[in-house]
Amino acid sequence: MARPKSVFLCSECGNETPRWQGQCPACGAWNTLTGFNPPVSREAGRRARRVEAGSATPLVEVGYSDSVRLPTGLGEFDRVLGGGLVEGSVTLLGGEPGIGKSTLLLQAAAALAGQVPVLYATGEESLQQVALRGRRLGVQASPLHLAADTSVERVIETARGCAARVLVVDSVQTMSTEALESAPGSVSQLRESAARLVEHAKGSGASVILIGHVTKEGALAGPRVLEHMVDTVLYFESDSGSRYRIVRAVKNRFGAANEIGVFAMGEEGLREVRNPSAIFLSRHEQPVPGSVVTVIREGSRQMLVEVQALVDASHAANPRRVAVGMDTNRIAMLLAVLNRHGGLALHGHDVFVNIVGGVRVNETAADLSALVAAVSSLSGRPLPHDLVCFGEVGLAGEIRPVPHGEERLREAAKHGFSRALVPKANCPRQPIPGVEVKGISRVAEAIEVLQES
Ligand code: TYD
Ligand code: MG
Repeated sequence: MARPKSVFLCSECGNETPRWQGQCPACGAWNTLTGFNPPVSREAGRRARRVEAGSATPLVEVGYSDSVRLPTGLGEFDRVLGGGLVEGSVTLLGGEPGIGKSTLLLQAAAALAGQVPVLYATGEESLQQVALRGRRLGVQASPLHLAADTSVERVIETARGCAARVLVVDSVQTMSTEALESAPGSVSQLRESAARLVEHAKGSGASVILIGHVTKEGALAGPRVLEHMVDTVLYFESDSGSRYRIVRAVKNRFGAANEIGVFAMGEEGLREVRNPSAIFLSRHEQPVPGSVVTVIREGSRQMLVEVQALVDASHAANPRRVAVGMDTNRIAMLLAVLNRHGGLALHGHDVFVNIVGGVRVNETAADLSALVAAVSSLSGRPLPHDLVCFGEVGLAGEIRPVPHGEERLREAAKHGFSRALVPKANCPRQPIPGVEVKGISRVAEAIEVLQES
């Protein structure tokens, strides 16, 4: 009788290979393959050959009901989830140690426990530690159930026992299944444990939330395969030293991906920031050269951020181009456009661009602001402090429109900005009260406007 074949799993991407190799053929990572005996019974191979045809149903005949959502009571968390936890869904919340994953989910679980039975299973902390945190969060009177366990089968049985409609697992990396002999924390254990929890969610209709640790590189520790198994993947982000925490939906089968929720960590846990559009804005007492405010979009909301540039004479053969919070290649491109279509040559200058507050901007809508800030720094002339600008810059020197221009302008107006420099195609059809909008279509026009101001 043939022995079940062992396979090798990559701890980075979860790829399976039949042989051990030094480098994963799928993701190219080195020394990440580990042996794994799949829990396949000897019968399985034979049974697989004996199956009969399944049934196929025409799409129009498939009945469905709108997914039932449980609001968690934390508005910002519900927002990233797409309106609350969906019954039978599996959500993965990733983030670095100490960022606030346990805090957020204990707060949410305690609030949910007021509506439905909830089990919070922890494999990381003792019950006393969780209770202490609960007291700090002011939720000690919640009818929430706790279990300190690392066996995934026992956790699922406990959840069944208390008829939990929501199960929080803190963290999925501490869970192990008795079906495998490999050590807890290994890739195969993680994969199997997560599979059991997904099965439980789909079978019982309970919502499962898994906490997952993230490595320094920002990937979920263990195989990426977890991201494929679950319905929703959320990441906790923060820049060091800031009390603000952003939860971002990277994948969401039941809502918009890239939606964000913003929280502030305080003495009594995480507090929602309902109106986060201006939290990253720093106001200067006097207008300073090289600084301008732009409006970026995160999910379905606008955020105002300050873009700073410093252009300084360089004596090096290769002047430096450094960008923090923006793509350095994008800056190099903008400087080339500025040279070719704006007549401003910066090859003798170092250029530094920084997005204030540790925000990362991936949108091309910030192009124009980086360009404008660089011109302002070069000339030493400050821009008006009530000016915002946004727009994409093209290689032909054109200023291209960006999506949701009107919403961006309204958000800026709400925060007291009364002048805007935007792509011509983004000029609103009806004037927006409080902002005077100047539409431009070429880089050269932008430079002219700046020289007039
Ligand atoms: P925690 O939720 O334990 O992080 P994770 O589960 O992601 O590892 O949060 C830990 C940090 O949050 C810790 O540094 C203490 C801080 N904290 C507060 O500032 N206020 C609070 O009310 C709580 C509970 C934690
Ligand atoms: Mg924790």
